[in-house]
Amino acid sequence: MDLIALLSLFVLIKEESISDQVNSFQSVPDLEKSMYIAIDGYPCVRLLNLSGEIGCSNPGRANIVAPVARFKIANKLAEPSALLVSMDQFEDLFARHCVVFRLSNDADFSMHVVGVLVESGSQLQNSLKGFSPDRKFPQAEFASYKSGNFEWNPTGSGLMWKAYNFPVFLLSNSSTLALQEVALRNEKRTKSYTVDVADFDLVMQTTKSGTRDSESCLREQTCLPLGGYSVWSALPPIITSSSKKAKPTILTVASMDATSFFRDKSVGADSPISGLISLLAVVDSLSRVDGLGDLDKQLVFAVFTGEAWGYLGSRRFLLELDQHSDAVSGLDLALIEKVLEIGSVGKGSAPDDNTFFAHSTRVSATSGTLNALKDALGSLKTQSIKISRASKSNPGLPPSSLMTFLKKNPETSGVVLEDFDAVFTNKFYHSHLDDLSNINSSAIVAAASVVARSLYILASDKKEISNSVLNSININASLVEELVSCLLSCEPGLTCELVNRYIAPSTSCPNNYVGVVLGEPSSQPYLGNVGDVSRFVWNFLADKTAIPSKDVSSACPKGCSGNGEMCVKAETDGKGVCVISTTRYVPAYSTRLKYDTDTWEVLPHNSSDTMGEADPVWTESNWDTIRLRVYTVQDSRYDHLILLLGITITLLSYIIIVISKAFITKALKRD
Ligand SMILES: *[C@@H]1O[C@H](CO)[C@@H](O)[C@H](O)[C@H]1NC(C)=O
Ligand SMILES: *[C@@H]1O[C@H](CO)[C@@H](O)[C@H](O)[C@H]1NC(C)=O
Ligand SMILES: *[C@@H]1O[C@H](CO)[C@@H](O)[C@H](O)[C@H]1NC(C)=O
Ligand SMILES: *[C@@H]1O[C@H](CO)[C@@H](O)[C@H](O)[C@H]1NC(C)=O
Ligand SMILES: *[C@@H]1O[C@H](CO)[C@@H](O)[C@H](O)[C@H]1NC(C)=O
Repeated sequence: MDLIALLSLFVLIKEESISDQVNSFQSVPDLEKSMYIAIDGYPCVRLLNLSGEIGCSNPGRANIVAPVARFKIANKLAEPSALLVSMDQFEDLFARHCVVFRLSNDADFSMHVVGVLVESGSQLQNSLKGFSPDRKFPQAEFASYKSGNFEWNPTGSGLMWKAYNFPVFLLSNSSTLALQEVALRNEKRTKSYTVDVADFDLVMQTTKSGTRDSESCLREQTCLPLGGYSVWSALPPIITSSSKKAKPTILTVASMDATSFFRDKSVGADSPISGLISLLAVVDSLSRVDGLGDLDKQLVFAVFTGEAWGYLGSRRFLLELDQHSDAVSGLDLALIEKVLEIGSVGKGSAPDDNTFFAHSTRVSATSGTLNALKDALGSLKTQSIKISRASKSNPGLPPSSLMTFLKKNPETSGVVLEDFDAVFTNKFYHSHLDDLSNINSSAIVAAASVVARSLYILASDKKEISNSVLNSININASLVEELVSCLLSCEPGLTCELVNRYIAPSTSCPNNYVGVVLGEPSSQPYLGNVGDVSRFVWNFLADKTAIPSKDVSSACPKGCSGNGEMCVKAETDGKGVCVISTTRYVPAYSTRLKYDTDTWEVLPHNSSDTMGEADPVWTESNWDTIRLRVYTVQDSRYDHLILLLGITITLLSYIIIVISKAFITKALKRD
């Protein structure tokens, strides 16, 4: 009974505190809205590998609720808090050892930081010296040489490769403003009895189930492997049944996935999407050239995904080639003569001068490609583009898909074109700040112009090259502009006209994080399991490289049954167009994994797969919903006061009861 008395006291007080507001609300959802501010944020999530975990998660199975405090005044945290930090403080907090130091060494501080909210703002790129949560030598374990202490990425802090047992969110623009207000209100609250708290729901399945590495979480099905779909396409299409001898292949590659500390904010404008856009523009320009089929070499273009997580795309591509699977039918590894990779090409070094560096495998094997680049540049007759050989003092290739090709065959002739020589010019490598403002589309056009003509020269192979044909190969700069605004911004983003011509995108804001493999990996995947950008690239390449189907009346997809026929643009109007094209999806996932009736199995390391040993087999923990909310609660100090009051009242009433009982008994006895 005492307990009930206490509870009703609480209810009374709580009701009182909101009763004066109740009148202004029309309905319950209205009430909810004003009580909880839903915050737009981009979480850092939990990833696992064969030996452990990285990324962020709530420490247990429950939400974390803590008052919001700004980092500046939070230097002495009185209570567990959700820290609001600006981007340059994030640097302080995480990169400049503060949090690394504090969160891992200063137990007192770390006990009091239960969540981190990172502000976003405009023009950060100009005020920050650089920010990269990746390592100084990204993916050094896959390099074909001993990395020593070489630093391709000197701004790299390696922060994203550590595990944090508290939630970290990047706030959107508008939420940043909201949270700043909230933090200010909390600072001024000395006399008020309420406090604004952040409520983090970043509960990870692997934390719940205690499966703390990839092998155990895959077994318990609490995670899924990182991966997606790479795309390749032949220009012109390879008609397999033709009796003509297969031609040697010139393979041009780029990557389409980026990464960052925050899962859903991985744009990767310079690294690597500038290379992808360049490749798409090259295919567009070459598709307008007649007579490619008469050249000596076959042009093939491949766009890999999962490259940021152990070169998943290129490694799986080479494995599928080894296995002669359907995903690569028409291609022959032995016929791949040269590989040209378009790396990060979004930044020209000087303001009105675009300089690119050709990094190559053994010089003798790559002289053909290097000469073609030189001749192509010469034919452009421009002073504003320069191509230099990368410095001899570099230990080898920079981090790129070519690493995979080189590991497979050390004699590979490979060249990768980059906007840097010995050190990344991209100061925001693999961070959410590598966005549209970090690149200049004129650099992409410049790189594409050189590559397109080089490919024509390489495919013609020493034959007389007609200057008029070469001069007709030009990059459509407005197409590049359009691709930049479609693939690198939210406005219009993937809802732009160009992308909508090919696919029905699931969101407008592009995110180039690789994602997880959904369902069974297949060369003819269920399209719901294929990412927006992969589907766009597939349709774009298929459309550009296609020759019209002979039977124009045939209806998609059933009618596309002729040799090499396929159905493009089917998503947009539900009908699509039949064309002849050799464009295929190749699943991209770790070569150490096997899918078997709904489950993933980790394979033992195969000694013929030299990169498999270094493969950490990355997986992402499953989660239900990720949510971040802010609302106002009674200050705990106030609650304590109430509790004290309640206890006092209870004690008092107990004493009164005892006294009156004694009194009554006495009175009764007297009777
Ligand atoms: C795998 O995760 C562990 C644990 O966090 C980490 O120390 C290690 O560097 C990771 N392996 C690779 C290759 O990144
Ligand atoms: C964020 O807000 C700033 C002004 O505070 C504005 O200049 C910027 O364009 C906004 N960014 C986005 C992505 O909306
Ligand atoms: C982009 O590069 C071109 C020429 O290289 C230059 O004229 C232009 O100012 C640059 N734009 C930006 C925003 O830096
Ligand atoms: C160049 O690209 C723009 C935008 O996609 C397009 O409207 C135009 O027709 C293209 N020009 C050529 C010559 O293909
Ligand atoms: C190892 O890889 C080779 C080549 O891909 C393959 O032929 C062989 O069957 C694999 N061995 C095992 C044990 O999986």
